[in-house]
Amino acid sequence: MTTGGSRGLFVTLEGGDGSGKTTQAELLEQWLGQVGRTVVRTREPGGTDLGVEVREIVLHSRGHVAPRAEALLYAADRAHHIATRVRPALERGDVVIQDRYIDSSVAYQGAGRVLDAGEIRSLSLWAAEGLLPDLTVLLDLDEGAARDRLDTVRTRYDRLEAEKSDFHARVRAAYLELAEAEPERFLVIDATLPIADIAGVIRARLEELLD
Ligand code: TYD
Repeated sequence: MTTGGSRGLFVTLEGGDGSGKTTQAELLEQWLGQVGRTVVRTREPGGTDLGVEVREIVLHSRGHVAPRAEALLYAADRAHHIATRVRPALERGDVVIQDRYIDSSVAYQGAGRVLDAGEIRSLSLWAAEGLLPDLTVLLDLDEGAARDRLDTVRTRYDRLEAEKSDFHARVRAAYLELAEAEPERFLVIDATLPIADIAGVIRARLEELLD
């Protein structure tokens, strides 16, 4: 299952909280603009008006949210986002740069919440009508280093960020497993490298894909 003949390019950024995805998405957007591509930059959860409401529930709801309910909330956000924003952009020929996608669900709800990874993947693919990215950049960072980075910028953690370090260690391991299983889709980069070096590696891969 791929972007299925659409003309654009679908790039997702993945990694733990604090791995630097937003910085790299910004740099990539700037560069693509300079080389004349139309870019749609978006994120999950929260890439649509409906998604903003779902994001608030899933990240800031007080009290316990059952793991399957959490998985369905992310899937609901995804279904609406892909149908109304991402597919239309790809059909126009735009480059979509998206912070988090299906791999986040497999890593966080699958490995983190210990739901069945295959079921989570199937649920997400159903929600997104089978759409997979052309490229997924995984910014890999040890969960201790990620926590140190977050501590410098956050005064308050959301529900997922507040999870203990073994949760984040499982998420990281799951990401690396996903990348190993699909080496042609994933570009794994050490997130401790300088920002400009990471951006250079991503650009080099994009140049190949845009050719
Ligand atoms: P993110 O938007 O990256 O957080 P922030 O902008 O605060 O850095 O992601 C929000 C959280 O949602 C993050 O901890 C990962 C989690 N998440 C899942 O658990 N499953 C998913 O499918 C997605 C898309 C995100």
